[in-house]
Amino acid sequence: MTNQEDVFKKLISHCKEYGFVYPSSDIYDGLSAVYDYGPNGVELKKNIREHWWKTMVQNHENIVGLDAAIFMHPKVWKASGHVDAFKDPLIDNKDSKKRYRADVLIEDHIAKIENKIEKEVQKAKKRFGDDFDEKMFRKTNQRVLNNQNKIDDITKKFADLINNNDLKGLHNFINELEIVCPVSGSRNWTEVRQFNLMFETQMGSLSVDASKVYLRPETAQGIFVNYLNVQKTSRKKLPFGIAQIGKAFRNEIVARQFIFRMREFEQMEMQFFVKPGEESEWYEYWKKERIKWHESLGITKEKFRLHDHDKLAHYANAAADIEYEFPFGFKEVEGIHSRTDFDLSAHQEFSGKKLQYYDPETKESYVPYVVETSIGLDRMFLAVLSNSYQEETLEDGSQRTVLKIPPLVAPVKVTVLPLVKKDGLPEKAREIMDKAKYEFMCQYDDKDAIGRRYRRQDAVGTPYCITVDHQTLEDNTVTIRERDSMEQERILIDEISDIVRKRIHNNI
Ligand code: GAP
Repeated sequence: MTNQEDVFKKLISHCKEYGFVYPSSDIYDGLSAVYDYGPNGVELKKNIREHWWKTMVQNHENIVGLDAAIFMHPKVWKASGHVDAFKDPLIDNKDSKKRYRADVLIEDHIAKIENKIEKEVQKAKKRFGDDFDEKMFRKTNQRVLNNQNKIDDITKKFADLINNNDLKGLHNFINELEIVCPVSGSRNWTEVRQFNLMFETQMGSLSVDASKVYLRPETAQGIFVNYLNVQKTSRKKLPFGIAQIGKAFRNEIVARQFIFRMREFEQMEMQFFVKPGEESEWYEYWKKERIKWHESLGITKEKFRLHDHDKLAHYANAAADIEYEFPFGFKEVEGIHSRTDFDLSAHQEFSGKKLQYYDPETKESYVPYVVETSIGLDRMFLAVLSNSYQEETLEDGSQRTVLKIPPLVAPVKVTVLPLVKKDGLPEKAREIMDKAKYEFMCQYDDKDAIGRRYRRQDAVGTPYCITVDHQTLEDNTVTIRERDSMEQERILIDEISDIVRKRIHNNI
């Protein structure tokens, strides 16, 4: 097991042990790719959700919110292209009976070659020390260049096959690349078939009048079909956006990597409606804005990268992913898509209702173009946790596991701890807690020795611990302990609220 795989395993068990994420229906041994969020998880998720909403809706006068239903008229999904095109190519290995996404097998193959390049670079870095010029090395080292050429060739051929929906070609390409099943090690593959990812169910109680409905695979369509309702009722002029947060469902073929690929998940999407011809400018604008948002959360800069798509979804004419370097490699957290007028024009055609915008300046009517930002809340949650999880050896040789979650989104902001359970300290601590809890998510902890209590708070990422000791009774001061530095400072009880508030916001 690599170090990173090991870290990821530990993170998954940490999530369960400390009430962040549990397998769904755990007592029945779980349900594949479905998860439940525990007491700390639900807080972290809510805080990330709120931070997104504040940034996108509260801070933009031309973006408004919406909460559309999960069930939609079945024609919506015909018009959007999901019934015909929202499919993944799947392939089975005849020996292991395991099912894979053909595109993922090829992407994993590319990732292996990327790893070879990385190893080469790391080796050279060690050899040359401070004199190492990484850019130059990547441009001139023959082994790196050969591998990079291989990646470019595979990527190009792969994109052509996917875009042409060439299933036979995909099958042949998997054989040509000598990709083996990770379980059986064999190359005994079935043909590649298409598999629609939408969940279906019936609406209506009688089989005669029941009609097929889908669980939405993206929240975006709720925005498209409401765009004129929202535009008229909020009297917005182009360009303007509609934001929505909600559940989406996909019957993913390959469920793996914990909450990275789930069958039920949450999306935070914003559709930005613009004048045709201005979409490229807004597409560039939103790419930059969204990167800034990720940086604003204090997540390590080098861990993010922007990746332009070779393979475009059926609705997009340009697309880029913001990827985070998870313990299992760089993977998509957010997509920025230039969706043209694909969706609105299709809904106009299928519904027979005009979805044109009347431009009061040019006195013309037209169907707006759309630039979309779409981020998975669960993936962002996983990115925050992966970035925060650390195992440290302290000066005294002891170990601590700490979640260095940005304070703004940490599940619990403040824990109040009486040093001992006597001498009037618990009463004083309760007083502080009862005041602080109106402003911050707080916890009260009086069990075990103080050192163990600090460790418990480190493990769930609480940024500030307020300790009440005997001196508190004399001069109304407490200590505030900072999670990352573990430094303690004496402050007045009356200052707690201001200090914590400032630190949460400055420290994001
Ligand atoms: N409306 C556009 C759209 O849905 P997408 O790239 O398919 O685009 C957007 O999905 C985001 O939703 C992804 O970047 C990812 O964060 C999240 N997402 C997609 N499928 C997911 C899954 N199975 N589990 C968790 N998150 C998922």
